[in-house]
Amino acid sequence: MKKIIVTIDGWSSCGKSTLAKQLARKLGYIYVDSGAMYRAITLYFLRNHIDWTDEPQVAEALGNITLEFVPNAKSGQSEMYLNGENVEYVIRDLVVAEKVSEVAAIKEVRSFAVAQQQQMGRSKGIIMDGRDIGTVVFPHAELKIFMTADNAVRVERRFRELYEKNPNVSLEEVKSNLEMRDYIDSHREVSPLRQAEDAIVLDNTNLTEEQQFRQALSLIEKAVTAAV
Ligand code: CDP
Ligand code: CDP
Repeated sequence: MKKIIVTIDGWSSCGKSTLAKQLARKLGYIYVDSGAMYRAITLYFLRNHIDWTDEPQVAEALGNITLEFVPNAKSGQSEMYLNGENVEYVIRDLVVAEKVSEVAAIKEVRSFAVAQQQQMGRSKGIIMDGRDIGTVVFPHAELKIFMTADNAVRVERRFRELYEKNPNVSLEEVKSNLEMRDYIDSHREVSPLRQAEDAIVLDNTNLTEEQQFRQALSLIEKAVTAAV
């Protein structure tokens, strides 16, 4: 079967990575969580006290960063490595989430990440989720999905996830983090979050993970047929 590129963009915590993982597993495609790359860069900046308003500091820091996705030996799921360290868990922390949108708005940071993302898509057979994948990274992707869900539902979903790891987290701080990130991500100058003109909208407010998977799989089947 012909392999294509599938992009999944959308608002924070609307289920993009859950869907992308389900699809990649089913199709034997590579899954790339582009947000993990921005989170790992942010973690590096925070740990090394990089002043990201200072261009030379940012350029030097980026030169010292190596990002890799390495499959977990047990689950097979790819995990984010920063300079050889597995940071998959720590990058999900709210401390990183508080700063990631600021860091991701920097032009040099985006060029650094986008060049690597485009490289990963060379042989197709890839599903990548993020904010600018259908608009900037793979503008010629065969299938572009734009995901959305009601704000309250998204907050509740992300809260449940974070609360499992840390019961001190509050619904209010998760809500304000999502609102802040969505605002910065959709208003920044470079590659703002927006729906590509040829993207298909998938609103999963009232869909289970199984239902969203079925809908997306049928979109992929159509896109593959059209691409032949
Ligand atoms: O999973 P969640 O929706 O919370 O976010 P994520 O996909 O892990 O992305 C974290 C942040 O990285 C976003 O809020 C954006 O600021 C940034 N990002 C981006 O600018 N471009 C992308 N392609 C992916 C993420
Ligand atoms: O990648 P993104 O930030 O868009 O979202 P996610 O991490 O895939 O999903 C956020 C949470 O919503 C996860 O805990 C999913 O299991 C959950 N989810 C859900 O409850 N129902 C859906 N239809 C999709 C996701």
